[in-house]
Amino acid sequence: MRLDKYIASVTDLSRKQVRAVIRAQHISVDGSIIGNPAHHISERSEVCLSGEMLRKPGFRYLMLHKPAGVVCATRDSHQTTVIDLLELERPENLQIAGRLDIDTTGLVLLTDDGQWNHRLTSPRYQCTKTYLVTTADTIDPATADRFGRGIVLLPENKRTRPAELQILDSHRAVLKITEGRYHQVKRMFAATGNRVVTLHRRAVGKIELDPSLEPGDSRPLTETETASV
Ligand code: URA
Repeated sequence: MRLDKYIASVTDLSRKQVRAVIRAQHISVDGSIIGNPAHHISERSEVCLSGEMLRKPGFRYLMLHKPAGVVCATRDSHQTTVIDLLELERPENLQIAGRLDIDTTGLVLLTDDGQWNHRLTSPRYQCTKTYLVTTADTIDPATADRFGRGIVLLPENKRTRPAELQILDSHRAVLKITEGRYHQVKRMFAATGNRVVTLHRRAVGKIELDPSLEPGDSRPLTETETASV
């Protein structure tokens, strides 16, 4: 990854400020001063700003393969929560970066870094969420066009942002949306007269669900995954 992109992702500096601090020789990578914003760093590079390491140690970034029947909540007196599935110290500090319905499966990201969570979930950043959808009825080929233009969801009566639908076969499609409205995918299909039968989140931004994770399993994100947000 480029040095300037990495620094922008772990600080509050604008791209312009990042380039300025690099050119002013304030940045070192693995102990050497680097003045080139395009310098390539690896996952293991230690990047310092004026001698201080940039990634604050202690923050946790995790991906979980959520099974159906588990709630995206930090606490629930009746049902198993995504937090219950993690065997970690201080689980109460973790925030869920974008919730899924109880019957939805797939990628859930968790962190105790509030700023990172904000960049994933604030409507301002329009982070793309990718879902695999199966439906009860045949998907009308016109659906892709309708979703592309945005579709009015009731009761808000507000058009969705343009979404990308790739129809895989009569009852399956991949949908990319950049919002996170309540039951959004189910309501979008309901607005076309169809019904979602299964919903699985494959990716959030550039972070893809690790295919080696079984439902219920989790792992820490890599530096590259964390810095992609
Ligand atoms: N849209 C839905 O309808 N449900 C989810 O769980 C996620 C997106």
